[in-house]
Amino acid sequence: MPQQPIHFNEKALELQALAREIADKHVRPAAAKHDKAQEYNFEAARAVADAGLFRTFIPEEYGGHGAGVLALALVAEELAKADSGFGVAFAVNALGSFPIILGGTEEQKKLWLPQVASGDKFVAFCLSEKFAGSDASGLSVRAFEDGDDYIICGEKKWTTNGGVADIYSVFCVTDPNSKSRRISAIVVEKGTPGFEIKKIEDKMGIRTVPVVETHFDHVRVPKSNLIGGRPGAGFKHAMMTLDYARPGVAAQAVGACQGALDLANVYSNRRQQFGVPISKHQMVQQMMSNMAMKTEAARQLVYAAAAGIDEVGPSPTNSKMAAMAKCFATDVAMEVATDAVQVFGGYGFMEDYPIAKFFRDAKILQIYEGTNQVQRMVIARHLVRECADLEHLSEFIPVEEQQSYYEEAEVTHEV
Ligand code: CAA
Repeated sequence: MPQQPIHFNEKALELQALAREIADKHVRPAAAKHDKAQEYNFEAARAVADAGLFRTFIPEEYGGHGAGVLALALVAEELAKADSGFGVAFAVNALGSFPIILGGTEEQKKLWLPQVASGDKFVAFCLSEKFAGSDASGLSVRAFEDGDDYIICGEKKWTTNGGVADIYSVFCVTDPNSKSRRISAIVVEKGTPGFEIKKIEDKMGIRTVPVVETHFDHVRVPKSNLIGGRPGAGFKHAMMTLDYARPGVAAQAVGACQGALDLANVYSNRRQQFGVPISKHQMVQQMMSNMAMKTEAARQLVYAAAAGIDEVGPSPTNSKMAAMAKCFATDVAMEVATDAVQVFGGYGFMEDYPIAKFFRDAKILQIYEGTNQVQRMVIARHLVRECADLEHLSEFIPVEEQQSYYEEAEVTHEV
């Protein structure tokens, strides 16, 4: 667990303030237009790059601020408060970079990370496939060795930032006969022959960021693009990456909550019914206060999960906390967005007001970067493991008596 209270370093707070400024100036005002047209906000991305925000999650030795996962969460939250789609467009650069940061060789870090830090190159993370979503080890995209190269064949699904990104961390099967070392992560750069974006998805929400199918038709890349230099570490790289990235998705959810809450707050104090602002009605007050409480609870959990990673790096506790933060905050985002629409009433259902977009954008938060069912599975597995440290409580649990209770119940039933 992180030390209490959570420490926010000066750099993180400076980056948060910059993100808020950019969100107010470049993201929120353009969100509806880009949402309608399903287009990426390049102008805001330029502003993010110029302000050095892509440096947030990159270690200092490679041109970053080395400000950590908590700073990444603060920035993602501010951007998502204005537009969830833009929030993920930013955070997915961290998701795609973490395999290199956590598992890459020195040469790979020196080659790719400074370009990400400067904002000259955007990144994407290619894990999911048509038949491998929650079951991330069931991949079929293949990378065959050919001399000093790998040749990649197959298709990836739901690549966020696809097309906009220049660097793709692609998870491929390199040894189909191995159980534990089947998968490797390989970097594929935009423009490599045979690598194509084939389908740009038409989405319910987060319409300001592209989500695409990426196709690999005998894509030849040098073996030096194999992340970490040794095949077979890909699944662990993917899991560690997700542990590091999930507080970022959770922070997007907190941003979405706050954005929806703020709008509902303004609306409920302006909208008059029965001769008073609806914020004077107790049932609206109940909704608003529940939304505020849940948002704050989610925020504290997310900051704690992020701070824990910054303090101790990869660990079972941090993996569990990341899953808890992702699951809790994104469930809360869906609830808060739903209630915010309710506060807006009929107007909330109309696209003339910004709140409908919050509702449409919230749903994916419960699905991507691991469905909330997967998060609960991860949390439950950690609980089972932690049980080994709770042996001293066994003496207080009279197992035999429980059995006799069931036996008795059975007898009663027969009678
Ligand atoms: N860190 C390090 N290693 C880990 C790990 C972790 N957090 N979790 C598991 N591992 C290791 C295990 O120790 C095990 O190692 P050994 O083989 O040496 O024993 C190995 O990985 C396999 O572990 P499991 O048996 O637990 O694996 P599993 O097949 O049962 O799957 C799972 C576990 C948690 C369900 C995993 O498949 C998973 O996280 N699925 C969800 C995938 C996901 O999040 N996809 C999102 C795609 S990205 C996205 O959505 C991006 C976007 O668009 C924005």
